[in-house]
Amino acid sequence: MSSSSHQSGAAVRGASGLRLVLLGAPASGKGTQGQKLAQTLGVPKVSTGDMLRAARDAGSELGKLADGIMSAGKLVPDDLVIRLVDERLAREDAARGFILDGFPRTLPQARALDELLEQRGSRLDAALCIDLPRELLMERATLRRTDVRTGQIYHLKYNPPPDSADLAQLQHRDDDKEETVRKRLDAYDTMTAPLLPYYQGKNILCHIDGVGSPEEVCARIDRVVRQLNGAAKGSAAATEGGADGG
Ligand code: AP5
Repeated sequence: MSSSSHQSGAAVRGASGLRLVLLGAPASGKGTQGQKLAQTLGVPKVSTGDMLRAARDAGSELGKLADGIMSAGKLVPDDLVIRLVDERLAREDAARGFILDGFPRTLPQARALDELLEQRGSRLDAALCIDLPRELLMERATLRRTDVRTGQIYHLKYNPPPDSADLAQLQHRDDDKEETVRKRLDAYDTMTAPLLPYYQGKNILCHIDGVGSPEEVCARIDRVVRQLNGAAKGSAAATEGGADGG
């Protein structure tokens, strides 16, 4: 399915903002696109990977537990990440929308997300899946570098850090070693890929072609977001029209 295939599954939203999930295999570009999208939409990007790495760096109990699991390319237990996301989405800045990056990753996580949104009277607008062939995923992961101070994501070949960058602050993630990336890709195939039919069944899945420059992928996502916003405005207008018209 192409990026234009979203099938009017936009939910009724609050005053503004979108509630989006970014799906896609490791290194498909979720973080890169999520950052841009969060700026465009003015909503927070909530990345469970970033939260778990922050917990690890802070040396918390959760971080210690997650560290070994992440380094092994496995998934952290559902209940722990669900709690993290529940707490994060309860914060005020997420009230008018959010972009979830790396969550949900299993069917129990997806169901828990639906439940916790329902409890708050909202639901997802769309699940955007960035598609990329496996051979490109490997190259994108192994040459990734992240600025630990700003969170900016670079790629040594496709998006190199500027000359002014402090090389000491550029992190090569532990789990970006080739062997671990392979395990993460396998975990994606078995645990996360089943989310695609789940969201397809809810009519909110939209595939995004992840091949091309970050700008090209961003433009594809922007088109989908414009459709979603248009659908929301249409639905709001219909509601208003219905109310006015009695
Ligand atoms: P997480 O941090 O979520 O990792 P991931 O899903 O494997 O995704 P990545 O961060 O690796 O990649 P990305 O898709 O964000 O790509 P990026 O934009 O950086 O999770 C890490 C671990 O935490 C998991 O393995 C698990 O253990 C644990 N975890 C996290 N969430 C969990 C959950 N919900 N449940 C259980 N466990 C969980 O791009 C990659 C590279 O490509 C970069 O270098 C970038 O510059 C470059 N790039 C991006 N776009 C392009 C482009 N268009 N062209 C060229 N290069 C590009």
